[in-house]
Amino acid sequence: MAATTLRNTIPRALRSASAPLHHPSVTAAATQVRYNTQSATDARSPFAQAGSHRTTKIPDFSKYRGGSTSGNKVFQYFMVGTMGALTAAGSKALVQDFLVNMSASADVLAMAKIEVDLSAIPEGKNIILKWRGKPVFIRHRTAAEIEEANAVKIESLRDPQTDADRVKKPEWLVMLGICTHLGCVPIGEAGDFGGWFCPCHGSHYDISGRIRRGPAPLNLEIPEYEFPEEGRLVIG
Ligand code: FES
Repeated sequence: MAATTLRNTIPRALRSASAPLHHPSVTAAATQVRYNTQSATDARSPFAQAGSHRTTKIPDFSKYRGGSTSGNKVFQYFMVGTMGALTAAGSKALVQDFLVNMSASADVLAMAKIEVDLSAIPEGKNIILKWRGKPVFIRHRTAAEIEEANAVKIESLRDPQTDADRVKKPEWLVMLGICTHLGCVPIGEAGDFGGWFCPCHGSHYDISGRIRRGPAPLNLEIPEYEFPEEGRLVIG
C-alpha cells in the first residue's frame, strides 16, 4: 500500500514541476508576487506618474513679445513720457481757461481806477466821488487846516496816526467816506473838530479824518492813490 501511494505521488509532483509558467493562474500569481515585492522595497505612490501627464497647457505668447527687453523699455518710456506731456498740456490749458474766466473783465478793470482833475477842486472845498461802489472824500486843505492837523498830540488820539502818515501831499486829503463804526457816510465840514461828523451815532472826525469822539474805533480809511503828474490824481 505505501509503495503504491508513493508511486502515484512522485509522477504527480513531477508533472506539477514541469507545468508551463504561462498558465493564467501562474502569471497572475507572479504579477502579484512582483507587485508585493516592489511595494515592499519601494514606497512610491501609485499616482507618482500622474505629473508626467499635464492636463493644462500654457499658451505660447512669444510671438506677441518684442524682439528685445531694451526695445520694450524704450517703448514704455516713450508712452509714459508722451502721456505725461499730454496730461501736463491739458492741465495747463484747463487752469489757464479757468483763470482767464475768473479774472476781471476790461470794463471792471476800467472801473477799478478813477482819475481826478484836481484843478476843479478849489482850496477849502470837498468833493465826493464814487469808487468801486464806495464814497471817496477829497479835500483841498488850506494852510491853516494843515497846521491844525499837525498840531494834534498823537498820544491823545484813539487811533494814533500823524497827519503826514495819512497824506502824500499835505494840501490833498483823500479818504474813504465810510464811518468806521457801522458804515454810515459822514457829513463834511461838520462836527466838533472841523472835519466830518457821522450822524448815525455821533462820531466826530478831525480835519485829517482821525476819530476824535464818538463810538467809531478807527480813523477814516485811506485808499490807494497816486499823483501821476501835477494836478492829476488816480485812485486805485
Ligand atoms: S455809523 Fe457812524 S457813528 Fe455809527
